[in-house]
Amino acid sequence: MIVSSKILLKKAQERKYAVGAFNTSDLEITKGIVLAGEEMKSPIILQTSEGEIKHGGMEVFFDTLKSFAEEASVPININLDHGKSFEMCKWAIDTGYNSVMIDGSKLELAKNIELTKSVVDYAHSKDVVVEGEIGLVPTPKKGEDVEILKTNPKEAERFVKETGVDFLAVGIGNVHGTYKGEPKLDFGLLQEIKRVVSIPLVLHGGSGISGEDIKKAVSLGICKINVNTELREAFTKTLRESLKDEDVVKPYDVMEPVEEAIEKVVKNKIAIFGSANKI
Ligand code: 13P
Repeated sequence: MIVSSKILLKKAQERKYAVGAFNTSDLEITKGIVLAGEEMKSPIILQTSEGEIKHGGMEVFFDTLKSFAEEASVPININLDHGKSFEMCKWAIDTGYNSVMIDGSKLELAKNIELTKSVVDYAHSKDVVVEGEIGLVPTPKKGEDVEILKTNPKEAERFVKETGVDFLAVGIGNVHGTYKGEPKLDFGLLQEIKRVVSIPLVLHGGSGISGEDIKKAVSLGICKINVNTELREAFTKTLRESLKDEDVVKPYDVMEPVEEAIEKVVKNKIAIFGSANKI
């Protein structure tokens, strides 16, 4: 069933767990995610980045996600991840997404506020909720050093007040993709942000962070955690293995282990996020 993440994250915030937001770009990934949610009796956020929805086929893929969500036995919200422009967010809102993220984090604060507010105004007029980002969660190439621009709590407070955004993605040492060395989350900073921002907080870059750190982040106010890279790795690694048996030629036989691998990663994340049996 489709349920807005406004409701899902409010519940998560009250009961101190996080809802997993899992990226998808095709049928097998979607099936694996939804099945995991159903087996764990967990709410789920299915999300697509701009690249992922383009790969899937825009409206055609959105309709597929919507069918999965409507028929699922658990609450599912469909989210646009990292919308980069007002136009992309408008397309998602008009198409039927339940929530959108507008990512103005590369802009200077005033411009980020202006862009985010324009999306919030349009989204709220259509009953769609919005995630904004402040501080920059970078996407380094494997092994590359990157500068992490952490969220400034004062700016976060102003951003939330002036944009009216529903959820806030924070930069506390998290990165997208592969971490160089151990991830070092700044829990002190997360506490400071939490003190001045009352809306649900979002952690991007959920792959590669230890279960212990995730649990601590959740206990300090993170209500939504985005996971993509671990799903992509499970997909490609399993597909390579699956293709080794040259006698297997039916695409759905080749893809079955891939779907199972996705399901396994998602179930593991749900267990760590604490969202099992929370429907
Ligand atoms: P990872 O790819 O690091 O899991 O991050 C996913 C994400 O934050 C999507 O917005």
